[in-house]
Amino acid sequence: MAILKEKDFGTPKPKADETVKVEIDGFEVEVAAGSSVMRAASEVGIDIPKLCATDSLNPFGSCRLCLVEVEGRKGTPASCTTPVAEGMKIFTQTPRLEKLRRGVMELYISDHPLDCLTCAANGDCELQDMAGSVGLRDVRYGYEGANHFDAEKDQSNPYFTFDPTKCIVCSRCVRACDEVQGTLALTIDGRGFDSKVAVGGQDFFSSECVSCGACVQACPTATLQENSVIEHGTPDRTVLTTCAYCGVGCSFKAEMKGDQVIRMVPYKDGKANHGHSCVKGRFAWGYATHNDRITKPMIREKITDPWREVSWEEAISFSAERLKKAQAEHGVKAIGGITSSRCTAEEVWVVQKTIRAAFGNNNVDTCARVCHSPTGYGLNQTFGTSAGTQDFDSVEEADVIIVIGANPTDAHPVFASQMKRRLREGAKLIVVDPRKIDLVKSAHIEADHHLALKPGTNVAIVNALAHVIAKEGLIDEAFVQERCDLQSLNEWRNFILDEVNSPEAIAQESGVDADAIRAAARLYATGGNAAIYYGLGVTEHSQGSTMVMGMANLAMATGNIGRRGVGVNPLRGQNNVQGSCDMGSFPHELPGYRSVADDAVRGTFETAWQRELDSVPGYRIPNMFDEAIAGKYKGMYVQGEDIAQSDPNTLHVEEALKALDILIVQDLFLNETARFAHVFLPGTSFLEKDGTFINAERRINRVRPVMKSATGLEEWEVTQRLANAMGYTEMNYSNAAQIMDEIAALTPTFAGVSFKRLDETGSVQWPCNDAAPDGTPIMHEERFVRGKGAFIVTEYVPTTEKTNRKFPLILTTGRILSQYNVGAQTRRTDNVDWWEEDVLEIHPSDAEAKGIRDGHWVSIRSRKGETTLRAQISERMAPGVVYTTFHHPESGANVITTENSDWATNCPEYKVTAVEVTPANHKSEWQEHYALETPSLRKIAQKAPVEPAE
Ligand code: SF4
Ligand code: SF4
Ligand code: SF4
Ligand code: FES
Repeated sequence: MAILKEKDFGTPKPKADETVKVEIDGFEVEVAAGSSVMRAASEVGIDIPKLCATDSLNPFGSCRLCLVEVEGRKGTPASCTTPVAEGMKIFTQTPRLEKLRRGVMELYISDHPLDCLTCAANGDCELQDMAGSVGLRDVRYGYEGANHFDAEKDQSNPYFTFDPTKCIVCSRCVRACDEVQGTLALTIDGRGFDSKVAVGGQDFFSSECVSCGACVQACPTATLQENSVIEHGTPDRTVLTTCAYCGVGCSFKAEMKGDQVIRMVPYKDGKANHGHSCVKGRFAWGYATHNDRITKPMIREKITDPWREVSWEEAISFSAERLKKAQAEHGVKAIGGITSSRCTAEEVWVVQKTIRAAFGNNNVDTCARVCHSPTGYGLNQTFGTSAGTQDFDSVEEADVIIVIGANPTDAHPVFASQMKRRLREGAKLIVVDPRKIDLVKSAHIEADHHLALKPGTNVAIVNALAHVIAKEGLIDEAFVQERCDLQSLNEWRNFILDEVNSPEAIAQESGVDADAIRAAARLYATGGNAAIYYGLGVTEHSQGSTMVMGMANLAMATGNIGRRGVGVNPLRGQNNVQGSCDMGSFPHELPGYRSVADDAVRGTFETAWQRELDSVPGYRIPNMFDEAIAGKYKGMYVQGEDIAQSDPNTLHVEEALKALDILIVQDLFLNETARFAHVFLPGTSFLEKDGTFINAERRINRVRPVMKSATGLEEWEVTQRLANAMGYTEMNYSNAAQIMDEIAALTPTFAGVSFKRLDETGSVQWPCNDAAPDGTPIMHEERFVRGKGAFIVTEYVPTTEKTNRKFPLILTTGRILSQYNVGAQTRRTDNVDWWEEDVLEIHPSDAEAKGIRDGHWVSIRSRKGETTLRAQISERMAPGVVYTTFHHPESGANVITTENSDWATNCPEYKVTAVEVTPANHKSEWQEHYALETPSLRKIAQKAPVEPAE
């Protein structure tokens, strides 16, 4: 489509249901009570000139351009700050107003460098538009007076430039940073002529700015401007699509010139983000065209051989023959594959279908295994569905927010901004996290309670919270009696009232003061609508599933489920974690979370897919590794996941990968896993994909191609060709819409979904079917999906990963804002300016005890391995706990993590590893191995010349 400009109504839409009638320029209109005069006029097509107003920000009333006359009132009030009142008669265009507006514009223009023809915002500048709108023809004051033309540009941010010579001091950037983003990095310094936008710190880069771009979007002039627009000019067409990073699922306008992306602008009608974004989605998309990208298929006989560039036909037939050979020699279950949460739902569907129908087994697993598999299990057991309960907007009605094991400002930034808005409005906050995350204390926000528990004691804490609630009579008896399974309730009540679950009993184990637990429990149970948001700090534990069920128990016990403002909400890490799970990526479940052992369900798929399907669950990822090492699992197809970097106990993973006869990796780049691959199938970036991503609120969002596939094929097409070459010729989709049609036909919760519907409505939250034709923003409203909610006894079982004299500290891991997952994408963008390497955060007292200095190298040794990182002394961690991220492969964070995993789902216990940290003057053995030994493989993978295709 041509460039899409969303209408700007000037001020936000009020929430009121009531309406009032007013007359504007002789037209009678009925608008929501509380609307500004500006908005009311705009809704009927009368756009009053404005500069400081925009509908994503509260009215400010500073520019005085939007003046109107109101019958019976003196003066000329600003229409952006004047609310409508019943019967009001408003005039937006009179000779008096015309004169006043021109006078205002003259003042602005007299201090503006009139270089419009060479300005980056030419044609996309509100100041220019307003000069035209008010009919400015000359400037009486001339251009010779005092001005700001010598002000220096700030080019410190890699993605945008601040050119104060063009600033009209409208404050929109300052207010965007405050109201939309919630970082409060900007301010207006000085008064009158001397007032100017200022950042704390020397420049944007060294300030608190998190580079979300909200100020750039809000700026009506070229003062804050994307560097890509400065470099390439204004875009000329728009494609609506969805961010491919985190599980928030922000909608974007990809603004294009030909097939070149000029900028990504968050879409105002995006239901997950309402026009906001973070640095990753808005700016870090350059990896899609990075030089490292592989766009031709490659094969090699042995992993020590150089890669050979081949045709698609040769790569596919080589793959199929090797897979078939592995099955002929080692049995039908000797091969399998892994789906990716970064790929579209349609691509995932085709991979799991290929494994089930063409490989003939259920050896399919997904990267969600290592992140949110306990969410699927725990919420299914208690509520009956493997997904979060709310939409994001629900947080706007929460009175108490508990954030457990999540760091939303870094990992889910746009939702964090929405949450922070609610907190600034007065909602209470409880943070349960070993680390002092930003939410604990940041601009205008302070947690009411921070339960800084020891890693591994989540279940003890959730039980203690529930104990207080049960003991103090705070259970919502009416709710539980009506909505929950009473036998399970009684068993749980008996269990939770046991003194072993009291705050006092677990205080020492968890490291959290009993009074703090009591206070938090009371607040959660009695503070009004209480909502739980959680992340991998809950799931990536040996009791991950138990903890998910513990939180579900808590929500049911207090009646905090089934309406807006409450619920239990997993914050999903990757863009399509929800979707990859929904699409049947688990070895025991067909799409829609239905057991492979269920004859009726399997029969439906057998009829549709024209193949007999295996009724026995297949291997999970850890089983695949073990069976490979045992010589029984010989072939693997891995799409879009870098298991050699992201899975725990790297050396074990490498041993398994080396044992395979055929490893097929499909990805954008030669990742760590590709070092062990025989076939490399180039994948497509989100900018080339056609399909859907399903976000953390079950929202099915469209992903649309903005450019042609760099590989010549869509990613699902490659998988389909592999399935065909394996002998499964019944799969022959010709486009992604057909795949979604099949998903809808075979998955009851998706029955009402189609591309056509999504294109019409924007997005929809599943279940979407005859019972819920418009989708389901809030789950379990009248009844739980499983009927009655089931309380589950959640006994606390300490992890076997213990500290001792040899390994006295606990290492826990997490993410940072500018990087994403294993960093394959973000490391290939300017985001590295913010995070060049992973570091080890250590408390000053631990650092002092061990003679460690800030910025110096330290060795981190666990029972599994050793690595070396630079130390960063920080009080974010409690003494005894150290923290790192895993965005760079050479850091080897997963060399030291153990194979402990969740008892129910095998989700690795990334969050608890006993370690010793000492000053280091040498590289770890693993890093030597990475730099010298394995790396002979790396060299072959990355540096050796490839033979061209015939
Ligand atoms: S980019 Fe975002 S955080 Fe930085 S100043 Fe602008 S609005 Fe604030
Ligand atoms: S930088 Fe832009 S948004 Fe900020 S005050 Fe100046 S003109 Fe207004
Ligand atoms: S990374 Fe997440 S929060 Fe940031 S723009 Fe993308 S979807 Fe939105
Ligand atoms: S737009 Fe109303 S005062 Fe600026």
